[in-house]
Amino acid sequence: MKRYFVHTFGCQMNVNDTLRMGEVLAGLDYRATPTADDADLIILNTCAIREKAEEKMQSALGRYRQAKLQRGALIGVGGCVAQQEKAKILERAPYVDFVFGPDAIAKLPEILVRARAERVVETAWVDSEEYVFPRADPETSRGRVSEFVTVMKGCDNVCAFCVVPHTRGREVSRPFAEVLLEAKALAQVGVREITLIGQNVNSYRGGISFAQLLLRTAQVPGIERVRFTTSHPHDLSDELIDAFRVEPKIAPHFHLPVQSGSDPVLKRMRRDYTVAEYLERLEKLRAARPDIAITTDIIVGFPGETEEDFERTMKLAEQVRYDGQFSFVYSPRPKTSAILKEAEWGVVSDEVKLARLERLQAVQKQISKERNQALVGHTVEVLVEGPSKTDPARRTGRSPQNRVVNFEGDAPAGSLVEVHVTQCTVGSLYGAQRAVRSNPTVPIAEAVEQVESCVA
Ligand code: 5AD
Ligand code: SF4
Repeated sequence: MKRYFVHTFGCQMNVNDTLRMGEVLAGLDYRATPTADDADLIILNTCAIREKAEEKMQSALGRYRQAKLQRGALIGVGGCVAQQEKAKILERAPYVDFVFGPDAIAKLPEILVRARAERVVETAWVDSEEYVFPRADPETSRGRVSEFVTVMKGCDNVCAFCVVPHTRGREVSRPFAEVLLEAKALAQVGVREITLIGQNVNSYRGGISFAQLLLRTAQVPGIERVRFTTSHPHDLSDELIDAFRVEPKIAPHFHLPVQSGSDPVLKRMRRDYTVAEYLERLEKLRAARPDIAITTDIIVGFPGETEEDFERTMKLAEQVRYDGQFSFVYSPRPKTSAILKEAEWGVVSDEVKLARLERLQAVQKQISKERNQALVGHTVEVLVEGPSKTDPARRTGRSPQNRVVNFEGDAPAGSLVEVHVTQCTVGSLYGAQRAVRSNPTVPIAEAVEQVESCVA
């Protein structure tokens, strides 16, 4: 039996793609190995969202060169950088045997055969309803409490900063019956939480609305929580907000990237909403589900962002009091419309970008701390995932709002328990197990996952 190692960068779409690669490779008699040291096949599943992600992958690729020279391991580059920069990769890294895009995972068997004789490039998109979504093998999910289910691929938005439409192509939705079948199969092997994933789930068109899809996933026997990611504010429907009102199994957490708190910047970003419209959606969400956690993504230093624009972003962060925020300095990406307009709009210097990021993150840190502190003395429901990674004597899991909760207790993975919160940090809660609300339907083996991610 041969061994493979996939080094994964990027978002949940990539993490999920890595799982699908593993399934294809298992069919070819490959098994996973936890490090690249003894792998016969090394794949980098890459992310192109920011320059830093690309640099990280370049340096990882350099490290794997030795494996090629010493053991003749096959080296492949997949994911978003592969899709966009195939020529550059082949030119700069002569030891790379094959390059394949996100739509070519099912073709890995023939790619591997061809790659033994020649360098292979397989980056054609399948941008139509003919696209067959790789069906997850539920057996690979046995032992997992929480799983992703892909509901769509690609993105039809035109955000000026974003590389994704260039790396993952047009939107294609997965038929709803397929999504529900996969959710049922996962529940049968013990999965209790499902996250529906896609670049822009709000524009799902797989036969029913996205709100209906969420509601129907929540009805699958054995499923206790349903989550989703990621959403664009401009098509967040009232129907989706109503789903939060009526179905408690839809977890009270909404990741709603705002990107900027200034209308002129949003306009240049081609986000298609104003700050006031965004706030109106949030208000409705909070009215429908008062305990809902709101998280966001923010970019600072977008071309032309003035001090005043940035102050508006600061004001928004303070006004919304996000439960969590992922903020980034703007990184120019190839082929995006912003990179073409940078000179006209005005480049923000690295120094200013970093200073703004620091200020924004400091404010968020304080807010997150206060929000967590408000939970001390209260009880939260936790879906148990297993032993804590930092202290195996403790258990860990997540609250409905997606907060990490470490606790003293003995409930097995897959249980829903009440935890009395006694302490907190900025990033997690700590407490003691109280009542067990429900037990896992299928025993869950507790394994630690091995995935490296560069996007939080
Ligand atoms: N520069 C910086 N951040 C970016 N993001 C997307 N493109 C860029 C870019 N060019 C951020 C956005 C998005 C998140 C996944 O990454 O905030 O929501
Ligand atoms: Fe995911 Fe975007 Fe990175 Fe591709 S570029 S892996 S879609 S975050």
